[in-house]
Amino acid sequence: MKSNLLASCVSLSLLAVGGAAWGNVGHQTIGFIAQNFLGPKAAAFVQGHLNASFDGSLGIAATWADQVKSTPPFEWSKNLHFVDAEDDPPVSCSVEETRDCADFICILAAIANYTARVVDPTLPPEQTMEALLFIDHFLGDITQPLHVEAIAAGGNDIDALCSGESTNLHAAWDTGMLVKNVDAVHGGTSEQYAADLTIEIINGTFSGIRSEWITCINTTEPFFNKRADMPSIERDIANIIQGRQFFNDSTITPLECPLVWARDTNAFDCSTVFSFEPETDPELCEGTYFTNAIPVIDLQLSKAGFRLAAWLNVLFDGAPLVS
Ligand SMILES: *[C@@H]1O[C@H](CO)[C@@H](O)[C@H](O)[C@H]1NC(C)=O
Ligand SMILES: *[C@@H]1O[C@H](CO)[C@@H](O)[C@H](O)[C@H]1NC(C)=O
Ligand SMILES: *[C@@H]1O[C@H](CO)[C@@H](O)[C@H](O)[C@H]1NC(C)=O
Ligand SMILES: *[C@@H]1O[C@H](CO)[C@@H](O)[C@H](O)[C@H]1NC(C)=O
Ligand SMILES: *[C@@H]1O[C@H](CO)[C@@H](O)[C@H](O)[C@H]1NC(C)=O
Ligand SMILES: [Zn+2]
Repeated sequence: MKSNLLASCVSLSLLAVGGAAWGNVGHQTIGFIAQNFLGPKAAAFVQGHLNASFDGSLGIAATWADQVKSTPPFEWSKNLHFVDAEDDPPVSCSVEETRDCADFICILAAIANYTARVVDPTLPPEQTMEALLFIDHFLGDITQPLHVEAIAAGGNDIDALCSGESTNLHAAWDTGMLVKNVDAVHGGTSEQYAADLTIEIINGTFSGIRSEWITCINTTEPFFNKRADMPSIERDIANIIQGRQFFNDSTITPLECPLVWARDTNAFDCSTVFSFEPETDPELCEGTYFTNAIPVIDLQLSKAGFRLAAWLNVLFDGAPLVS
């Protein structure tokens, strides 16, 4: 299997088969979680800049980028939904900007681009809205392990089963396992799933670790904790706003936080995602694989929603957590 995977990696990593990326339920859940943590100015910005189709909600707006990426006017955007990490899971996982985003066409550069654009006062309103729609979506995609993985087109080319139905590894993570779990224990809706995860963030399982999600420090690397110039959302946003970021239409230096977040996500490819044998046991939506995956999905969606709010809060309210 390993050699098949590697062969697929070499031949397919350039094809950019994007998949849906957290399916609609996952993206909406992220957006609805974010709504619960927006500061007053960020909330007003969202309300004021999303048009009537999105009902002023990051939850409803979160799927727009997937809906348009296969239509001719937006085909150029389909390669912005992921970064093709050329690593070797489950043996070794890594994300490197120069190796994996050399052409600046990847989710890391896209987050920098649309963050700069969302606060660019010279852009017309529809471009500002487009930037917000992309941020809403890409801060979600960057927490999906198979959106930070090149092998077999991010797992799209690895056949699998979900409750007996044919699927592939990527789709099972985007949608199959997630939806099965939402139907079973979260009332079958992204609104209820977001409400349940929001409680975990406020005063449940995630309340003790949520602050780590919005620092951009690698907590397993003690060196980082001692640095005077620690990466942070505030520093990324300040660099964008003050134009210190090496940034123009042809070249973008990705920011620090999205890279840390991509590495955090990619680590699950080694710990969890690739720990199955597609030939002997292709079923993903039952048994140990499923029970190990669900806590990861809950965690990643919660992180994404909380970070999306923090990102917009720093941009518009000046601090990541505003009560
Ligand atoms: C809102 O914007 C989207 C994306 O540009 C567009 O498809 C939709 O028609 C707009 N809706 C309204 C009510 O203007
Ligand atoms: C930044 O966003 C604009 C508007 O969507 C797009 O035209 C441009 O290609 C993007 N730049 C980069 C380097 O991704
Ligand atoms: C946890 O927070 C939720 C949402 O604010 C609230 O409804 C619930 O009562 C809280 N539970 C506890 C045990 O504090
Ligand atoms: C983009 O910015 C870099 C660094 O400031 C500069 O060297 C380069 O010429 C710029 N490219 C364009 C097309 O403006
Ligand atoms: C954190 O740093 C360690 C040691 O350098 C590295 O092995 C690990 O991949 C890093 N994790 C993240 C999420 O950056
Ligand atoms: Zn996507």
